[in-house]
Amino acid sequence: MNVLVIGANGQIGNRLVDQLKEAGHNPVAMVRKEEQIDQFKEHGVDTVLADLEKDFSHAYQDIDAVVFTAGSGGDTPKSQTKVIDRDGAIKAIDEAEESGAERFIMVSALKANRDPETWSEPMEHYYDAKAKADEHLRDSNLNYTVLMPGQLTNEEGTGNVELKERIDSFDTKSITRDDVASVIVGLLDAEKSFGKSLELLQGDTTIEQEIAELE
Ligand SMILES: NC(=O)c1ccc[n+]([C@@H]2O[C@H](COP(=O)([O-])OP(=O)(O)OC[C@H]3O[C@@H](n4cnc5c(N)ncnc54)[C@H](OP(=O)(O)O)[C@@H]3O)[C@@H](O)[C@H]2O)c1
Repeated sequence: MNVLVIGANGQIGNRLVDQLKEAGHNPVAMVRKEEQIDQFKEHGVDTVLADLEKDFSHAYQDIDAVVFTAGSGGDTPKSQTKVIDRDGAIKAIDEAEESGAERFIMVSALKANRDPETWSEPMEHYYDAKAKADEHLRDSNLNYTVLMPGQLTNEEGTGNVELKERIDSFDTKSITRDDVASVIVGLLDAEKSFGKSLELLQGDTTIEQEIAELE
């Protein structure tokens, strides 16, 4: 599958591109700076130079699936969260529909689909941006999955996760970026995950089993 990775230079994005390649897919790394291209080329990964704040429709040529794992990051003003996590994501969904890329996986965040009353400062604007982009995806004609991981860590992946439409107890739990990338690779052609919003945390069950057990 030709998979456009939006946010490929990011911490999940980097891991995802490598894992997609290992799994026999053809990742296309969307990056926004010239100097980010070589690191992907050295690994035989196709790249496309495009910026979510400009016209990025050219990135969708011959693309079968899109993974949105970009983000404005914690060090930018709140307004940038609206620009990237909300409006950039919404544009990415619209471009997928227009281009004919049928599969779309959104890296959202745990709590984004919960009652806004449970959101507290300083994260409220972030969940709001994520929720609006997720809602736009649910309203699209795409074979979507909204993936909502908990707090991300850079520890080595364990291969064991909890992946459910609703996880009841999650106050202190996290998930490695390695495992998020592995889950995305596993979900790509898992039809049972189409049209679903899934919460993701570290758990005791293998990724394969959790995906197989989706209703
Ligand atoms: N941090 C957490 O605990 C947490 C928890 C749940 C979900 N998430 C979500 O998980 C996703 C990935 O997280 P991460 O840690 O991998 O993020 P990250 O390392 O900050 O990567 C984000 C990527 O987005 C790219 N980006 C920003 N603005 C862009 C633009 N205008 N055009 C194109 N690309 C742009 C950045 O590009 P540059 O490399 O050029 O800066 C970067 O590569 C994000 O959506 C985040 O909100 C995070």
